[in-house]
Parts: sequence; structure tokens; C-alpha cells
Amino acid sequence: MKVSVIGASGRVGKATAFCLAEEDVVDELVLLGREKSLDRLEGEALDMYDALAAKDIGVIITASADMEDVKDSDIVVITSGIPRSADMSRIDVAVPNAKIVAEYSREIAKYAPNSIILVITNPVDVMTYVALKASGFDKNKVFGLGNHLDSLRLKNLVAKHFNIHVSEIHTRVIGEHGDHMVPLVSSTSIGGILVKYFSNYDSFDIDKIIQNVKNAGNYVISKKGSTEYGPAFAISNIISIILNDQKKILTVSTYLESEIEAVNDVCLGVPVKLGINGIERVIRIKMTEKEKKAFLKAAEAVKDTTKEVMK
Ligand code: 2OP
Repeated sequence: MKVSVIGASGRVGKATAFCLAEEDVVDELVLLGREKSLDRLEGEALDMYDALAAKDIGVIITASADMEDVKDSDIVVITSGIPRSADMSRIDVAVPNAKIVAEYSREIAKYAPNSIILVITNPVDVMTYVALKASGFDKNKVFGLGNHLDSLRLKNLVAKHFNIHVSEIHTRVIGEHGDHMVPLVSSTSIGGILVKYFSNYDSFDIDKIIQNVKNAGNYVISKKGSTEYGPAFAISNIISIILNDQKKILTVSTYLESEIEAVNDVCLGVPVKLGINGIERVIRIKMTEKEKKAFLKAAEAVKDTTKEVMK
């Protein structure tokens, strides 16, 4: 299986590439970037080879500035874009990043017409819409990291609150990968038991916890300049499930056509079934009135920004 990572000289891009190689998920990796980054990309490839030898993993890694090298990729990951500083919202970088994502998406359509496009660039819900329209691909083949990373962050915080191992927590964030995140508390379970049946549920302040999830990206950026391991492992989760055709349900940003609450013509984080062909279907979920209201608000906010960017 071949995966190409566009923007592999950046911290998220190179962490993603190394995570995919180290997890032995792919046979071939292409580290793509601009001409000026080629030296650095070659250095990243050589450094990865050294590390992989320690684990007897044989992945072919190519450093390139030539988009033709995405040819025959099963999945192309777009991480390129103007990075967000801690005081910037994901929306602040929307217009310039839309031009970058649209350009790459057209080239992917030209050189890897049968690939899946996985968008990381922020604001990821809007960038997923841009990539879908610019590539002309089917909607099951273009989706964004979105709330899968937020769901992992929520998982950690719920595990901490109830002092239970993270593997026992099943929870999900949907909506916008941004200010309008929607934690699905009504579907959150711990060891298969709905969280609302836990004796200390009353002390579970979801509004405070979800604020921490919303701020998580910015907080890490304010400490170390960018997030990298979180996105990298979240992306590797998604790619591994696709390439192994595991039919698991993750929350990714996808183009909606009224599958949930009659929301359409916008990309939002919703639960989907993932397999070798990308998104097999959107899981049509029921929500509480509070969750539904928040989800519709997220749809409105993302739609407004998308309209601005697509002008
Ligand atoms: C994050 O929240 C990269 O937006 C991503 O870390």
C-alpha cells in the first residue's frame, strides 16, 4: 500500500509519515513538499530509514517536490498550510489555506485519480469541502481528520475524571473541529455502561471538559509551537483502518447530504464506517435536544466560513 504525505517537512506531516512507517501500515511512503524543502525531506527519509532498521521494518520512503510522485497512491494526506499560532483561530488561516489545498487537490486528481484524500489542514471542515470540490472525487473518497482527534482528547479527559483506563472509555465529539465541537455525552460509555449511570456522574462537568478539548490544540501550540503526535497518531488510526479494511466507526469530517438532522452541503465531523474504499456510510445517529441544537449551530458556523472561502 502506498501513502503520500503532502507537507511532510512540517511537524504534523513528518510525525504522520514516521508514525505510518513505524506502525508498518504501508509499503511505500512519499514525503512531499516544496522545492526549498527537498533537502530537509531527504534528511527526514534517511533518518526514518535508520529508525526502521532497529525494528526490521522495510518501507520504501521517497522524498520529493514533484506531485507526479503521488501516482498510484492509495491515500494522499494533505497537511500543508499556514500554521496556526496560539492566538489564531483555525478560521483565521482559512482563505490562504483554501488556495493551497485546492491546488494540491487538483494535482492529486490528475496524478492519483483513484486515491483517497485525507485532509488535515485547518480549518479542516472547510478545507475538506475545498478538497472535495477541487478534486471532483466522490464524497466517500475525501474526508478530514476533524473530530477523531477531539474524540481522543475527550477520551483522555473522561478517563482522568473517572480514574479509569482510557481503553474502557467510548466517547465521541462531532460537529466542528473548532469552537463548535459537540461532545456526544448521551452516547458516552465506560466499560459498556452509559456514563449517566455512574454514581459520580453529577460531578462530571462536561461543559468544562469540552472547553478543555476545544483549547487542547491551542494549549499544546502555546507550549511547543505546534501539535504533532496527537494528529499523527489520529491520522495513522484512520489510515490503518482503511488499508486493513477494518469497517470501524470513527468521527471524520465528511460532506453531508441530509444524513443527520437534515444538514446538507457542508463538511462536519460525524460518525462514519471506514473501509478500504474510504467512507462506506454515515452512521445516522440520534442525539439529545441539547446535542442537536449544538450540532445545527456548528453546521451554520462552518457553512458561513465555507461560503466566505468559496467566494
Ligand atoms: C489539532 O487540534 C492539528 O487542529 C489540529 O491539534
